[in-house]
Amino acid sequence: MSLITSRLEILKEEDKKDLDVARVSVDEESSNKRKLYIESYGCQMNFADSEIVASILRENGFATTSKIEEAELILLNTCAIRENAEQKVRNRLQHLVPMKKKRQQVKIGVLGCMAERLKTKFLEEEKIVDMVVGPDAYRDLPNLINEVEDGQKAVNVFLSREETYADITPIRLDSNGVTAFISIMRGCDNMCSFCVVPYTRGRERSRDPFSIVKEATELFEQGYREVTLLGQNVDSYKWKGVNGELNTTTFANLLEMVASINPDLRVRFSTSHPKDITDDVLYAMKKHENVCKYIHLPAQSGSSRILDLMNRTYDREWYMGKIDRIREILGVECGISQDMITGFCTETEEDHHDTLSLMDYVKYDYGYMFAYSERPNTPAAKKLTDDIPAEVKNRRLTEVIAKQQLHSLERNQMAIGKVHKILVEGFSKRSAEHLCGRNDQNKMVVFPKENFKKGDYVNVLVTECTAATLIGKAVEEVLV
Ligand code: SAH
Ligand code: SF4
Ligand code: F3S
Repeated sequence: MSLITSRLEILKEEDKKDLDVARVSVDEESSNKRKLYIESYGCQMNFADSEIVASILRENGFATTSKIEEAELILLNTCAIRENAEQKVRNRLQHLVPMKKKRQQVKIGVLGCMAERLKTKFLEEEKIVDMVVGPDAYRDLPNLINEVEDGQKAVNVFLSREETYADITPIRLDSNGVTAFISIMRGCDNMCSFCVVPYTRGRERSRDPFSIVKEATELFEQGYREVTLLGQNVDSYKWKGVNGELNTTTFANLLEMVASINPDLRVRFSTSHPKDITDDVLYAMKKHENVCKYIHLPAQSGSSRILDLMNRTYDREWYMGKIDRIREILGVECGISQDMITGFCTETEEDHHDTLSLMDYVKYDYGYMFAYSERPNTPAAKKLTDDIPAEVKNRRLTEVIAKQQLHSLERNQMAIGKVHKILVEGFSKRSAEHLCGRNDQNKMVVFPKENFKKGDYVNVLVTECTAATLIGKAVEEVLV
C-alpha cells in the first residue's frame, strides 16, 4: 500500500481551509468551565461536526481553548479518506504521549471517521486513547466522558439512520464571522468503490429544511454574509415532510428557500455528484443572483472504463454532457472544480490520458487531486488489486496537477479587465494593507483595503492574476 502524500495544495494561496489539514479550537470566554481542546482533520463536514461537539459540550460545562496544555479533555476529530490522513492522526497521538505521561488526568478522545472505521481496535492500537466516538454518537459524549472519568475506556460507534443534529446550534470555531458552513445532510448512499465514507458516515439522511433556513437566518442576523450548504452529495438532498404537511423538498427547493432569506446572503454548496445535479438546481442557481455560480463537480477520472470500476454510475460522455448543460444554462463564466484520483486499480496510460483530455475539455477553475490510496474493506479493496506502483501514481498526479495549474491560470486570466463583486473575508495573508475575499466563482481576490472592512461587498476591477489569486482594486460601479 502506498503512502503517497496525495493532497497537494497548489492553487489557493489565500485559502487554507483544506482537506487533511488540522484546525484547532478557539478560546471561549470562560472562568469556571472545564477546558476542551478540539483538533479537526478532513473535510468541511468534520469541521462542522466539531462545532456541534463544542455546542453539546458547552451545555455540559466545557469551554473550548486553543491551548492544548491547559485542556482537561483533548478531542481529535479524525479523517479516514486516505492512508496519509490516518497516519497524520497516529503521528499526532504519538506526539501527545509525553504530555499524557506528565498529566495523567488529561483524557484523550478520538471522534469522526477514523474512530468509526477502527472502532474498539483504536483502543488496542493506540494505548493513549481513552474514548472512541463515531460521527452519529456525539449526543452521548457527556455520558462517555463520565465513564472515562471513572477510569474506564468508552466507545460509541453506533451509526444512526436519523441523526442530523438538526436542533443543535453549532458554536462557530475558527470563524471569520462572515462565512459559515451548514450541514444539510449526513452519510452517503453511493458506493464509489474506492471510498470509505459510506462505512464511516453511514446511510444518507437529510435534515429538516426549516432548521436549515432558521440556522442560515440566524447567521445572517449575526452578520454572516455567506453560507455553504454541506453534504457528501447535496444534490440528492430530500426531505419528505411530516404528516403530509409538505411536499418533498428537493435540493433545488432548499437552495431557493435559503437564497430567499436575504439577497445579501450568498449561498454556496458542496459537493455535487455529477449523476444527481439536475436542471432544476442549475435553474435555481440562475434565478437567484445570490446563489454563487460555482459548482464543485468531482469527475474522479476521465476514462469510462475506470469510472465503471469506480462505480461512479456515469461515463466520460455523460459527464461531458453535464458540463455542456452547466455552460448552456449558467454560461461559460460559471466556476467548475474537480476532484481526480490518479493510479486507480488497473489504470493504463491511455486511461490517464483520458483524464488529461477531459480536463482539457472542461478547463476547470480549480482542482483537488489525489493519488489512489486503498482503504480497507471498500469494494475496490475487496475486488480489485491496487496494482499501480507508487511512482506511477505520483508521476500521473504531477501531470494532472500541472495541467490544472495551466487551466487555473487560463481561467483566472479570463477575469482580468472585469469588475467582480467581492465579499470581504478579512485581511490578505500577505499584507495588512490589502483585503481578500471571493468572487461569485469562488476565486480569491486581493485588493488595497481603502476604507472597506470584513463583511462588505466591494466591486473590484481585476487587473492581474496568478493561478491562485486575482488582484485588483475597488471601483465605484459595476462596468458592463
Ligand atoms: N462526496 C464527494 C467526495 C468526498 S471525498 C464526492 O462524491 O465527490 C473527497 C475526495 O477524496 C473524493 O472526491 C476523491 O477524489 C478523494 N478520495 C476518496 N477516496 C479516496 C481514496 N481511496 N484514494 C484517493 N482519493 C480518494
Ligand atoms: Fe465517497 Fe462516492 Fe459518497 Fe463521495 S459520493 S462520499 S466519493 S461514496
Ligand atoms: Fe474524511 Fe470523513 Fe470527511 S473520511 S473526508 S472526514 S467524511
